[in-house]
Amino acid sequence: MKDHLVIFDTTLRDGEQSPGASMTKEEKIRIAKQLEKLQVDVIEAGFPAASQGDFESVQAVASVVKDSTICGLARAVENDIVRAGEAIKAANSGRIHTFIATSPIHMEKKLRMSPDEVVERAVWAVKRARDFTDNVEFSPEDAGRSDLDFLCRVIEAVIDAGATTINIPDTVGYNVPHQFGQLFKNLLEKIPNSDKAIFSAHCHNDLGLAVANSLAAVRNGARQIECTINGLGERAGNTALEEVVMAVKTRQDIFDVDTRVNTREILAASRLVSSVTGFAVQPNKAIVGANAFAHESGIHQDGVLKHRETYEIMRAEDVGWNANKMVMGKHSGRNAFKTRLQELGMEFETEQELNEAFMRFKDLADRKHEIYDEDLQALVTDNNTQRVENEIYQLVSLKASSETGESPQAEVTMSVNGDEVSALASGSGVVDATFKAIESMVNSGATLQLYSVSNVTDGTDSMGDTAVRLEKGGRIVNGQGADTDIVTSSAKAYINALNKLMDSTQKAHPQAPV
Ligand code: KIV
Ligand code: ZN
Repeated sequence: MKDHLVIFDTTLRDGEQSPGASMTKEEKIRIAKQLEKLQVDVIEAGFPAASQGDFESVQAVASVVKDSTICGLARAVENDIVRAGEAIKAANSGRIHTFIATSPIHMEKKLRMSPDEVVERAVWAVKRARDFTDNVEFSPEDAGRSDLDFLCRVIEAVIDAGATTINIPDTVGYNVPHQFGQLFKNLLEKIPNSDKAIFSAHCHNDLGLAVANSLAAVRNGARQIECTINGLGERAGNTALEEVVMAVKTRQDIFDVDTRVNTREILAASRLVSSVTGFAVQPNKAIVGANAFAHESGIHQDGVLKHRETYEIMRAEDVGWNANKMVMGKHSGRNAFKTRLQELGMEFETEQELNEAFMRFKDLADRKHEIYDEDLQALVTDNNTQRVENEIYQLVSLKASSETGESPQAEVTMSVNGDEVSALASGSGVVDATFKAIESMVNSGATLQLYSVSNVTDGTDSMGDTAVRLEKGGRIVNGQGADTDIVTSSAKAYINALNKLMDSTQKAHPQAPV
């Protein structure tokens, strides 16, 4: 019998901490439903004390997801723990994840607390969290740079206080595999009550080692991995869920653990997270990149055709490639549309929203003959992103022209707080002209940090999924837009980012000093 490896997904919490990846409640619910389909064991749905919006998102996820444990993050302070406890109340199974830093540099420079005070606070936090749930996780933040004896002392104390999972974060991605593996071995051997808790690895990818470090931890006794879809996360990101899960599944000869993940849902999860956050997946990304299973060279193709395993260690269909290819078209009815969206985990709160989405679908079907699941996903994401609460700017119409030898031009009409305004601009290309026209009306003063368009499906009639990242005064936001016309999708993405920039909601960062 293999041990069960708990898959703890933190796309909605640590993943959301990537600059510009912040998600609305509806987006979090959609992703959480897909994570439930993927059968992850635990979904860290957010940091409820960050803002009222974050609290409500965790609460909403806790009430819709039934088959995964819902976790809320809390610093080791009263307000955070109470907020997390309240947010997970509706969950079938709820967990509070509380943490405090234990490395000398964090204790001295960030917390300004002595090691004794840190131990005392950690124990207090775990006991307080136990008032809300008996499923309590504790993390000694920056464990990867903490003193081993001190870590042992803190962990022994929090297990005695009632922590059931001990998560070991390599917060700054400093560790290397043999060292991180050894850390788990040491902790499990040295801590007298280590058998009373599950040990977990939480790795960041600053040196590109997050997955390798996580797997080294598993080889040395870790029985939970914290990870995100597509490795989303601050800086270089977190451990990629799809990579650890497939490594464990593919190399059953060396891992004495197994997960309950339904790997066929991996690609759908990857696409959903990418389209909601605007963080594109690089083509050569393991498992979910467009080239992950593509064989270019004749020798490889020949080998794969003769016997698949000559060059393939995994089956593309096992991670969801070539699945969900159900085609819809202009003759598909409202009911078929609604049913397929439900199967894809997308539901509408009101009939009116469904009707609007159906009209957009019909409009798309007039322009594109075959509509795949990816198109439906892009259509709904686009619909949601164009509905940012209290949005100030909306695209009304766009006319763009380009001609060899002439300067490309764009005329954009927008609604600004309900009033229509138009502007004409020229640029180096039609997209540049469109952005200049928009800027001439809004004068945002933001800097464009990223602009990318990816095709949702194959073919030149594909929808273009556009991501725009804007920065202003240190604040970074991502905007998305989707349309078969990439100039329109670009304008939508730019306007979506502007609306997010105007939203003044302040969020606390969990790792900032209290
Ligand atoms: O990286 C980290 O240390 C974290 C903690 C909050 C667990 O994300
Ligand atoms: Zn982290």
